[in-house]
Amino acid sequence: MKLAVCPGSFDPITFGHLDIIERASQQFEEVIVAVLANRTKASLFTVEERMDMARKTTAQWRNVRVDSWHGLLVDYCKENKVQSIVKGLRAVSDFDYELQMAQINLQHSGVETMFMATAPAHSFLSSSIVKELAHYGGDVSTMVPDVVNDALKARVAGK
Ligand code: PNS
Repeated sequence: MKLAVCPGSFDPITFGHLDIIERASQQFEEVIVAVLANRTKASLFTVEERMDMARKTTAQWRNVRVDSWHGLLVDYCKENKVQSIVKGLRAVSDFDYELQMAQINLQHSGVETMFMATAPAHSFLSSSIVKELAHYGGDVSTMVPDVVNDALKARVAGK
């Protein structure tokens, strides 16, 4: 089976992530959205909250499921027999870091990373920008699904 993982912090999931996940689901038999810890970023939502939002917003794609992992991505791939990692590239600024990760992961495990060009409409979008806007009461309704927008409003209000 052609199985791929779309890994990320998904803190929270955005329309940019969902575009990549949907397109990956058209290329692979099964896609796992893996919610991972990124040690360089403090998170707004717990892993369980991020998984819940990812599940609700990917439910329409039958070959997509959501999982989490607290460790190296390559170990997740090995344990789950995942052959491919799929990542979106928004701009040249993403490239250095993503290339480094892809090369480390290839060397450590032989797992290939496939890059997809982010749709131009989402090229400026990131979870960090969404959180910053939401924090100051900005409108993020065109950037995230309603369930995520509601969760952001609640979190900003201290719930
Ligand atoms: O959405 P993000 O924060 O850009 O995703 C980055 C993520 C979580 C995919 C990356 O940090 C990751 O793979 N973390 C798991 C640990 C790991 O395997 N690190 C790479 C080898 S040093």
